[in-house]
Amino acid sequence: MFICCGIETSFDDTCIALLNKNKVLSNIVINYNFQIYKGIVPNIIYLFHIKYIFKIFRISLVNININNIDLISITYGPGLLKSLFIGIILAKFLSLILKIPIYKVNHLHAHILTFFVKGSNIIKNKLIFPFIILLISGGHTLLLIMYDFLKLKILGKTLDNSLGEIYDKIGNLLNFKYPGGYLIDKFSIKGKNIMNIFIPKVKKLNFSFSGIFTKFKNFILNKKYLIKDICITFQKIIFKILLNKVFKALKINNIKNFGIVGGVSNNKYFIQQFKIYSKIYNWNFFYLSKFIKDNAVMIANIGYIKYKKNLNFDLIYIIKPNPKLFINNKVL
Ligand code: KG4
Ligand code: ZN
Repeated sequence: MFICCGIETSFDDTCIALLNKNKVLSNIVINYNFQIYKGIVPNIIYLFHIKYIFKIFRISLVNININNIDLISITYGPGLLKSLFIGIILAKFLSLILKIPIYKVNHLHAHILTFFVKGSNIIKNKLIFPFIILLISGGHTLLLIMYDFLKLKILGKTLDNSLGEIYDKIGNLLNFKYPGGYLIDKFSIKGKNIMNIFIPKVKKLNFSFSGIFTKFKNFILNKKYLIKDICITFQKIIFKILLNKVFKALKINNIKNFGIVGGVSNNKYFIQQFKIYSKIYNWNFFYLSKFIKDNAVMIANIGYIKYKKNLNFDLIYIIKPNPKLFINNKVL
């Protein structure tokens, strides 16, 4: 047994997970439903983290003795300052009291390496380095190469909004429950394409979604089209943009393996379409069937990976929240 406790409070979920190596022992996620605000309220969320974090820590210990935990793994960024603080305080406290080492974890790095958690995906083949990753979440949109567990290179990023933000803004305009991404995907199933839209020209492997948003905002406000038709038309153009960049990234780097991660990668239409194109181009396409949205399993998993790689533990007194932490090419 080697038990790693992962703690994640970077945004609007309070999450604690226990892993034995890369096998999940417990996974608790509490999400706050901000229906009334149609969005996230940073100055309120941290109060929920305070309210629930100790409760869920106790629940995750139902079948496990606290003294059997070997390692703590904590998200230190990117995210909301106050929210990150709550998780970090619990992590430091546990590390001190239990006299066990601690690793700080980049939330985005954790999303990417979720593929290495046992049972996280249903693809038979193993994901082999190097591979291209498309990270599409509420906070980020990135295209990158993973050379190894701890080595990567950013190829492209969004120049304006993240893809999740755009989905949620469209969702709000359609009066969908927040966050609207899931419902746009669901409604699109029975929709018919309204029109073919040209994909915007964006330099290199970067993305830009603001122009598309304005176009669809007008469609919705016009009230001329059915919601389901708007949804599929939107999904189609977004997919075209993603496919175009992924295609280039794989071709330029002569790589066949590629995966999608982040909340938006839950999108059934994207998965179905990427599967089709993977057959055509002979790509090995990977997507997650579990631990897609924010969770602490992915955080504990990075702790275990760093431990296996013999990385120096982080000094408890030095760890602090880094809200703007971005994956750069050197330090994770
Ligand atoms: O990764 P995530 O859980 O949280 C962040 O770290 O940002 O991503 C949340 C985002 C939201 O914008 C939500 O609308 C979107 O993921 N999302 C989807 C789908 N399911 C969740 N977007 C499109 N299609 C979906 N099926
Ligand atoms: Zn996330």
